[in-house]
Amino acid sequence: MKAVVQDTYGPAEVLELRDIDKPEPGPDDVLVQVLAAGVNPADWHCMTGLPYLMRLMGYGLRAPKNRVRGLDVAGRVEAVGTNVTRFRPGDEVYGVCDGSFAEYASGRHDRLAPKPANLTFEQAAAVPIAAFAALQGLRDRGKVRPGHKVLVIGAAGGIGTYAVQLAKAFGADVTGLCSTTKTELVRSIGADDVIDYTLENFTDFTDGARRYDLVLDTAGNRPLSLLRRALTPDGTLVLVGGEGDGRWLQGVDRTLQAMVLSPFTKQKLRGLMSAERSADLEFLTQLIEAGQVTPVIERTYSLGEVPEAIRHLEQGHARGKIVITM
Ligand SMILES: NC(=O)c1ccc[n+]([C@@H]2O[C@H](COP(=O)([O-])OP(=O)(O)OC[C@H]3O[C@@H](n4cnc5c(N)ncnc54)[C@H](OP(=O)(O)O)[C@@H]3O)[C@@H](O)[C@H]2O)c1
Repeated sequence: MKAVVQDTYGPAEVLELRDIDKPEPGPDDVLVQVLAAGVNPADWHCMTGLPYLMRLMGYGLRAPKNRVRGLDVAGRVEAVGTNVTRFRPGDEVYGVCDGSFAEYASGRHDRLAPKPANLTFEQAAAVPIAAFAALQGLRDRGKVRPGHKVLVIGAAGGIGTYAVQLAKAFGADVTGLCSTTKTELVRSIGADDVIDYTLENFTDFTDGARRYDLVLDTAGNRPLSLLRRALTPDGTLVLVGGEGDGRWLQGVDRTLQAMVLSPFTKQKLRGLMSAERSADLEFLTQLIEAGQVTPVIERTYSLGEVPEAIRHLEQGHARGKIVITM
């Protein structure tokens, strides 16, 4: 089968489209014929091995242990492991498999769910990783409630476009922060208010005039002191991401600061380590099939264009999701 493979960490040039053996599903795994695969900043991190901290956490010291890139997947079940009863060959599924930039990928059954009936494979592949982060950031870490005032920083990005829609579905009053060309998009997916961070001075914005019960920060790496000024006295800040410069930590230091500071303030300052769970996919499916959440796709690329797709995402100005189609 064709797959996008790397033998060493590095920039997008290390990726090669090659013929390799189809993966063998283990007893708890599902082998999926990949029809589309979403692209995430995580693919860039796995490709470059940055921040270095992740190499120490088991991804592989000098080269990635898993040589095939790609995580988000949508496709058809080809085969199932001996312990798997939830799926059978032919089922249409979406979720996460290691190595989804390939014609076939294998993953644990509990990271997959039946594909939403109203989505194409391309749309379904744009959901898992970004929507997990948005959902778990708002619901589990942010404890969002109806009527809460929520600020989504990076509202036009992969996670942000789900966060705006999910926060609305949870009954919140949502403000999205993005750059000029994306304000209409952020309004169109349901934001009650939009702030263009390129026009409005964010320091003035955090002068205390507007305060939020929950700030979901997915981009920009703003200092904690600044973000806290946008929170109500007992509000919650959830640090989801934002690409930093440091090659060792890349933003993890901000989360550590938040953890140290949080016990000493009424504000709740939290990080997020999202998890891939079929129960959350099923929850998202309900909202998607009810029309409350719809993936926003900027563009699609072919399997041979994965390096270009990752370079595009690396620029840090995605408009929704980008997807690889087979
Ligand atoms: N904690 C977790 O479990 C978890 C899980 C998944 C991902 N992440 C991390 O979350 C981050 C976001 O992921 P993503 O998939 O949403 O990335 P993405 O699709 O690349 O989106 C990035 C967005 O950031 C916006 N942006 C860039 N600079 C900004 C600034 N200064 N202020 C406000 N917005 C800015 C861009 O929009 P504009 O053009 O409008 O600036 C773009 O839409 C990444 O760092 C990723 O690694 C964390």
